[in-house]
Amino acid sequence: MLVLGIESSCDETGVALVQWQEQGLPRLLAHALHSQIDMHQAFGGVVPELASRDHIRRVVPLTQTVLEQSGQSLADIDVFAYTQGPGLAGALLVGAGVACALGAALDKPVLGVHHLEGHLLSPFLNTDKAPEFPFVALLVSGGHTQLMRVDGVGRYALLGESIDDAAGEAFDKSAKLMGLDYPGGAALARLAEQGNPNAFKLPRPLLHSGNLDFSFAGLKTAVLTQVQRMVAQHPHASSVDLGADFALLPLSQRCDLAASVQAAIVEVLVKKSLAALQQTHLMRLVVAGGVGANRSLREQLTAACGQRGIRVHYPALQWCTDNGAMIALAAAMRLQAGLEQADKRYAFNVKPRWPLGDPGDNGP
Ligand code: KG4
Ligand code: ZN
Repeated sequence: MLVLGIESSCDETGVALVQWQEQGLPRLLAHALHSQIDMHQAFGGVVPELASRDHIRRVVPLTQTVLEQSGQSLADIDVFAYTQGPGLAGALLVGAGVACALGAALDKPVLGVHHLEGHLLSPFLNTDKAPEFPFVALLVSGGHTQLMRVDGVGRYALLGESIDDAAGEAFDKSAKLMGLDYPGGAALARLAEQGNPNAFKLPRPLLHSGNLDFSFAGLKTAVLTQVQRMVAQHPHASSVDLGADFALLPLSQRCDLAASVQAAIVEVLVKKSLAALQQTHLMRLVVAGGVGANRSLREQLTAACGQRGIRVHYPALQWCTDNGAMIALAAAMRLQAGLEQADKRYAFNVKPRWPLGDPGDNGP
């Protein structure tokens, strides 16, 4: 069976083709991605209308690239999968509309995939080192921070989540205050490499809450206060653009603040992940989502889990942020597990529930 997957929930258009049989993990045959980051950077964040229009421009050429790379034709595809949500409605409609149009034209079934399930299963793209069930998953993206217990494909229980900002949002908002381009997470992490993580005392919200929830909104406020304090001392600060003023400060000070912000976020993610592992008595952790690309998070999780004999699985860096491969893979794994019947109704829903309910129960 060949599944074509389309991701278009935010600022990346991704298309991929996977092949699966009754047994064994689905195999990625080809993938193509276009990131809109350059386009949105001038606005300091994603402009939904521009995002939708760009998805429209890219999705068909990317599909053609994937077909060329894999040597397959549209007629060979058995199922057209698309990201059902969550995401920007206009952006989601592009992927959903194209998948349904292709399905209808070729008389093939379609399947909507939850974006977070795509992230969650992305470590299975690494067929050599794929995790075994059950495991604890730390889902850390730009929009979500969640700890889940995962007992199998489609068998997910939420253990805790952010009650306000997501970890990626904390990275991005702190980066913006520090004058870094959108999306600032990776740029902040780069600055942090040369900084002292103990230079500034920043809050670790809910670290001792006794549950597995997160909160990052207070951290953002603390970063704002710290940036204002540092900038106030600079003789050329204009007081018009905080980020631009911050960029005037010596590199070492900027690196120190970046390292302190990263340390605060990473410490909370590591300690809560360990608490989730302890609570569930599981010995495997899977990390997924864009923040899963963060080197400090990987190093600290690997070290802390290594000491306890816990195995940690990360997706390859290219599968941490949004991509079509994880959507095609999640669709194939759900079909393979018998959880889904891809259908020919071509009526799509772009607001699914998470964690997923009973098979077929995807709305509203
Ligand atoms: O999973 P993703 O592509 O999008 C969502 O589904 O939200 O994650 C994007 C997030 C952004 O917040 C971005 O700043 C963050 O992942 N990110 C990072 C790094 N690379 C991407 N955050 C910290 N360190 C990184 N190296
Ligand atoms: Zn994502």
